[in-house]
Amino acid sequence: MNQGPLIFVGIFFTMTLSWYGFVFKPTLDLGQQAPVKLEETSQLYPAARPGLAQQGAEIYRANGCVTCHSQQVRDAKDGSDKARGWGARLTVAQDYLFDHPPQLGQVRIGPDLANVSTRLFDLKNQLIHLYAPRAVVKGSSMPPYPFLFEVRKIGPTPSADALALTGAYAPTAGFEVVPKSEAYSLLAYLSSLRSEVSLYEAPIPKPPTNAVGTVVGTNAPIVQ
Ligand code: HEC
Repeated sequence: MNQGPLIFVGIFFTMTLSWYGFVFKPTLDLGQQAPVKLEETSQLYPAARPGLAQQGAEIYRANGCVTCHSQQVRDAKDGSDKARGWGARLTVAQDYLFDHPPQLGQVRIGPDLANVSTRLFDLKNQLIHLYAPRAVVKGSSMPPYPFLFEVRKIGPTPSADALALTGAYAPTAGFEVVPKSEAYSLLAYLSSLRSEVSLYEAPIPKPPTNAVGTVVGTNAPIVQ
């Protein structure tokens, strides 16, 4: 008996079903997402990344940072991300609206970076961390990225941008380590990673208040 037509219909049906599941349905559910206006500030979220940060996203991608760092905070019921201080709410599709490609990551050899800019207190130190992670964090397993920096002879006056390196990480006498534009754009990208904005679909729990509206308990008030 000729089974050809039956096999054809079977394959066609399987392909159509996968296209529906992997392409059509997700586009239907998430494809219409647009920036939302925040009630408190009337600003749009997410805002497009500034140009330098956009270039930094490419440096992040080119250097494979995504192999060790995720950018997705899980809900409290799915893990301890909130408790680790990685974000006040879970990450949702809205957060990646302007990311092409979104760099969600799935391995966490290093900390989640979805809200890293809330933790980058000292940007100069952050550059040193990129140049030589172990100069900042003892025994760090993050690889160094010295090629994002230039080692050059100190001119008549030392550069104000030179890294303050000491000990084993200091360059030879008479030389200085200066960030290249790639390092600055990567830093701008890291500084733009902040998704702690309360959304309808992912609200940030308000701290408990008493009858007169004073915040009670140990939760710090949320600043947006
Ligand atoms: C082999 C894995 C690995 C790769 C690749 C990697 N990192 Fe890391 N990263 C780590 C680890 C482990 C830590 C935690 C220890 C430390 O701070 O050095 C870390 C820490 C960090 C931190 C500090 C995070 C915080 O919460 O304070 C930043 C920022 C960072 N990495 C950025 C980057 C960037 C940018 C790249 C790509 C240029 C990169 N990492 C590539 C493993 C990695």
